[in-house]
Amino acid sequence: MQWDHVIKNGLIVDSQRVYPGNIYVKNEKIAAISRHELDGDALEITDAEGKYVLPGLIDVHVHSRDGENGATYKEDFYHSSMSAAIGGLTTVFEMPNSNPAIYNVENLEKQIKNLTPKAFVDFAIWGLALGDLNIDQLKSLSDAGVIAFKFFWGYAVDSKAYQLIYNFKPGMENVIPPLGDGEIYRMFKKIAETGKIVAIHAENFDIIQNMTKEVEQSGDKSYKAFLKSRPNIAEETIIQTAISFVKDTGARLHILHLAAKEGVELIKNAQEKGYPVTGETCSHYLCLCDEDFDRVGPLMKVYPPVRTREDQEVLWQGIKTGVLSMVSSDHAPHTEEEKKGDLWTSPAGMASIETLASLMINEVSQGRITINQLVSVLSENPAKVFGIYPEKGSLEVGTDADITIVDLNVKSTIKKEQLHSKSKITPFDGYNITGAPVQTIVRGRTVAKNGQIVGEPGGKFIRP
Ligand code: DOR
Ligand code: ZN
Repeated sequence: MQWDHVIKNGLIVDSQRVYPGNIYVKNEKIAAISRHELDGDALEITDAEGKYVLPGLIDVHVHSRDGENGATYKEDFYHSSMSAAIGGLTTVFEMPNSNPAIYNVENLEKQIKNLTPKAFVDFAIWGLALGDLNIDQLKSLSDAGVIAFKFFWGYAVDSKAYQLIYNFKPGMENVIPPLGDGEIYRMFKKIAETGKIVAIHAENFDIIQNMTKEVEQSGDKSYKAFLKSRPNIAEETIIQTAISFVKDTGARLHILHLAAKEGVELIKNAQEKGYPVTGETCSHYLCLCDEDFDRVGPLMKVYPPVRTREDQEVLWQGIKTGVLSMVSSDHAPHTEEEKKGDLWTSPAGMASIETLASLMINEVSQGRITINQLVSVLSENPAKVFGIYPEKGSLEVGTDADITIVDLNVKSTIKKEQLHSKSKITPFDGYNITGAPVQTIVRGRTVAKNGQIVGEPGGKFIRP
């Protein structure tokens, strides 16, 4: 047999087990897994002695800013997918708040064409749910292959290109204000018919407006005041309402980038009653808390905000107990110039795609989670929840040979100037990490090794 790639002598990891073995790749798929060496030559041989061999890691939450009219001065897919590959990811899900936004099939098809030649890793694309504005497009978007639908609860959009308005004030011109619950409820029903997940950005616009006003009047500009302007209850009330809609409509719900501890309890209760509700948190909510603001500054500004140590602790419990099934980056780059403003004026978001896996691997080294849990939250669960398992998210024979090789022994320091994203905005500059993704293999082909990209983009669009 002529194998395309053999990954030898590694410790193979899934969500349950760690076992020694060799992986044989043929025609982009895993052709065999064996404890003993199989006969035949190989075009590429990787010796993974002393390293862990994981199913390729997946980031379900990426804003690459790419698109015909996109903010590509902040980031583009060439850079974000390169960062993904170097950071140990084999598949990313691109968010739909691009420009053009992904609210109909025409824009989805344009985006597939636009992203494919720049893709170092495989990618899926989210569809944007806009209430009545595109309620009749949801079925066709689903059929055309969006991975799921995202709804930015509490956000206004501009009336021309449906771009998100981040600092909406009532009365703004050419702006469609945040949707009311009735319209959202009808939209949930429509999405339920497609069988796809509706994933929500859960922040209550009205509470944020009111609290922001109160805080502005107080003159307090501290991080504490910032948290007061976007309080836990802003997340809690939306998650609560969304779960009620799930009970009534049968829609499958995913809570994106959970930051508030109350969300964990709500999701847990819904799951215990058998409702199809999943949750995700991000590396910044697990690795930072409000106490870090004095040191890090507005670089850690993100919506929803990084909250208190208590919230962080409950989120970790959510990860460890499986209530939260995945960790994402919410890669949302801005330029250094844009982030120079103060906490209140600078845009929310950071470049986090390249550090996601490293930060979580570091938690494995520190003993906070096991390597099996890492596989659960960064590979197996995302693939299962979004319907791409076992093709992605597993190391089963016959499935895509997407593999992330991890060395738990290497020590490194995150340096912002070494990130491959166009934007170097990270709150983790100078952060010491034990363990690293050292090789990324997409459908059998090595795309990154030891912090360097290998070869040309060869990523593919994937659909559930
Ligand atoms: O902080 C954020 N930035 N939160 C979001 O939900 C959107 C994102 C962005 O696109 O900049
Ligand atoms: Zn996001």
